[in-house]
Amino acid sequence: SGPRPVSPTGARSRDGRAAAAQQGERLTTAQGDRLYDTDHSLKAGPRGPVLLQDHHLREKITHFDHERIPERVVHARGAAAHGVFKGYGRAAGVTKAAFLGKGVETDVFVRFSTVLGSRGSADTVRDTRGFATKFYTAEGTFDLVGNNIPVFFIQDAIKFPDIIHAGKPHPDREIPQAQSAHDTFWDFVTLHTEATHHTLWNMSDRGIPRSYRMMEGFGVHTFRLENAAGETTLVKFHWKPKLGVHSLVWEEAQIAGGVDPDFHRRDLADAIEAGAYPEWELGIQTFPDTPEQTFEGIDLLDSTKIVPEELAPVQPIGLLTLDRNPSNYFAETEQVAFHLGHLVPGIDVTDDPLFQGRLFSYLDTQISRLGGPNFGQLPINRPHAPVNDMLRDGMHQTAVHRGVAPYHPNSLDAGCPFMAGADTGADIEVPVELPASRKVREAPASYDDHFSQARLFWLSMSPPEREHIVHAYSFELGKCYEQAIKERGLQSLANIDTELCAQVAAALGLPAPEPTEPLRDEQPSPALSQLGRIWPLD
Ligand code: HEM
Repeated sequence: SGPRPVSPTGARSRDGRAAAAQQGERLTTAQGDRLYDTDHSLKAGPRGPVLLQDHHLREKITHFDHERIPERVVHARGAAAHGVFKGYGRAAGVTKAAFLGKGVETDVFVRFSTVLGSRGSADTVRDTRGFATKFYTAEGTFDLVGNNIPVFFIQDAIKFPDIIHAGKPHPDREIPQAQSAHDTFWDFVTLHTEATHHTLWNMSDRGIPRSYRMMEGFGVHTFRLENAAGETTLVKFHWKPKLGVHSLVWEEAQIAGGVDPDFHRRDLADAIEAGAYPEWELGIQTFPDTPEQTFEGIDLLDSTKIVPEELAPVQPIGLLTLDRNPSNYFAETEQVAFHLGHLVPGIDVTDDPLFQGRLFSYLDTQISRLGGPNFGQLPINRPHAPVNDMLRDGMHQTAVHRGVAPYHPNSLDAGCPFMAGADTGADIEVPVELPASRKVREAPASYDDHFSQARLFWLSMSPPEREHIVHAYSFELGKCYEQAIKERGLQSLANIDTELCAQVAAALGLPAPEPTEPLRDEQPSPALSQLGRIWPLD
C-alpha cells in the first residue's frame, strides 16, 4: 500500500487548515510593485528577443538561483518539531536554572538528524542520530546538542575533521552516501582505537532506530551545575523516550529505506499531526564535583566513556512533549542554529577537550552556513528572553539599533546598569588547577583504555542483539576492499570479546586474532558505599 501521504505543505495550523503560500489580491515583486503576468518574459513581439529591461524576469530567476544555502557539514539531513518542556522542580538542589523549576513551561525546538549523509540521503541508514534541543527559556536560550549514542568516537575535538573525513563518502567516487560499509571509515576506526566503543554502539541495534520518537538522547559530555547556594555538581544529561527504545532490524531498514527514504521524518510529522505527541523525560546522572573529576575510576572528561546507570541512576527532572510540526522546513529545520555555548545560569561547561572544541566549531560553521554573523536574528533562532547586546551591523543585519554608544563603559547612552550582579550569568566560578607547568599536546593516561567499556556493552547484550552485532560487523567489514582493514577490524573485536571476534572472523573467512589487551569481565555493581555518593535529588 506504500506510505501514507502527508499534507502537501507538510504542516497544518492548529485548526487543521494549511496556510496558503500567497495571500492578498495581487501578485507583486519583492518591492510590492504590482504584476499582471508571471508566465511570460517581456519580449519585442511574441516571437522577439527577451528584453533586458524585464526586472520581474531577472528578479524571479536571480532569487531562485540563490535559494540554496550550504548544507550542514555534518548532520545535514534532519527533521524537527516544536514543543514544550515542563520542569519537575526536582533539580533545584543541584541547579538554579529557572526553566527546571516545578511546573515551569518552556518552548522548545528539537532537531533530529543523521550525521554523515547529505541532505537528500535516506533516513534508515546505520549511523549515529543527532538529538538537538533548543530551550527558549526566560533566562535566555539553552541548547542541549546531543546524540542518540552516549559516547563519541574521539576524545579531543582536534580529531573531528579526521573522523568526519573518514566517515563521509570516499573523495573519489562519493560513495557510500550513508555511513554503511566503506574502507575509509573502517580504516580510521581500526587505526584509532578510542573509536571502538562508539563504533560498537553503531553496529548494534542503536545504529538503526525504529523512529525518532523511540530514541534515547544523551548530552554525552559532563556538565557542571550550580545551585542557588553556589554548590556545584557534575552531571550527564539523558533523554528517555516514553515510547521506549526500539530499533529496526537490518532487513527492515533496507526495505524501509528503499520504499520510503523519508521513513523517519514522515513518522515524526505524521505522529504529531495525528495528535500522538512524542514525549521524553529529561534526566541527570549526578556526580560529586571533585578535583579529579572522576567517578568510580571513570574519567568524567572522557567522552568515549559512560557512567553505567547501575552506578549512577538517571533521575528525571522534566518532561518534553513535541506537539507542533514546522510550517516551513527551510525557515525552521534548516536555519536553526544550535550552540553548546548557549547556557543559562546554573549550567556550565567542563574541561572535556571534545566539549571545548565544539564550543568553537558551531558558531564558526554557522557564520558561513547562514551567511554572516546575524543569524541569531532569524525567527527560529531568536531568543524568547530580552536581548540587550552590543553587537552591531554585519551581513544581513535586520535590527535597527538605537543610541550612539554600543560599548562599555560609556557615559553617553543610559550607562550599563545591567552589568550589576555577575551571579546572573552562566559562568560558574570553580578553582582551576593547572598541575602541568608546560604546554602539551597529549592526553591523560586515563584516556588510554579503549576497550573495557566496549566489552561492558557487548556483555550487556541479549543473544538476538549479539547476533545483530555479529551480522553488522560481518557485513560492514566484508564490504571493505582492503584486507589489512578487515584484519585490523578483527583485532579490535578480539580486544572486545573472543566469541564476537570468532564469529565475525568465520563470516569473513579469516583467522581470529588473539587479544592484545586484557579482557576484563567485571560488571559494575552498585555497592552501598557508592549509592551513598549518588546524590539523590529527593
Ligand atoms: C552539528 C552533535 C561533536 C561540529 C551537530 C548536530 C548535532 C551534533 C546533534 C546537529 C545540530 C542540528 O540539528 O542543527 C554532536 C555531539 C558531539 C559532536 C553529540 C560529541 C559529543 C562535534 C565536534 C565538532 C562538531 C567535536 C567539531 C569540532 C559540528 C558542526 C555541526 C555539528 C560543524 C554543524 C552545525 C551547523 O551547521 O549548524 N553536532 N557533535 N561536532 N557538529 Fe557536532
